[in-house]
Amino acid sequence: MNPVKDLIKTLADEHGRSRENLLPILQGVVEKEKYLTEYSMVEIARELDLPAAEVFGTATFYSFLEHKKMGQYVIRICKTITCAMKGKNQVLLAIQDMLKIGIGETTPDGKFSLLETNCLGWCHKAPAMLVNDDVHTELTPESIREILSSYMKK
Ligand code: FES
Repeated sequence: MNPVKDLIKTLADEHGRSRENLLPILQGVVEKEKYLTEYSMVEIARELDLPAAEVFGTATFYSFLEHKKMGQYVIRICKTITCAMKGKNQVLLAIQDMLKIGIGETTPDGKFSLLETNCLGWCHKAPAMLVNDDVHTELTPESIREILSSYMKK
């Protein structure tokens, strides 16, 4: 059997096969595989009996749709309005300064990739970002240095 196919089946068994389980399943695949291929999305659509366009649209909205291999830690910083107004740009600059990469890039050691994403639902504690599945909120240029240092040591 194909390992990705098995993974999707296991995730669907775990989470359920309705529309609201799509996001955790996408996250589960990204967690294991680091990125989503067209094959994975078509398989998810088949497993959940959803139109492939819906899976594709959700993956794009959350910026999970990566065709290249991502770093060990994928940083997804929210680019939506509340985070933008609460200093996301300074946080982004601090990340870029520390890791020396731009959006869409991966550090040469393969440890971090940097992406932007849409609202993560943590607007009340903006600015927010995900590092893999971990949510980090109320970010400042100072807190970002501490957070990234802790991942560097892992
Ligand atoms: Fe950033 Fe909602 S606007 S989490």
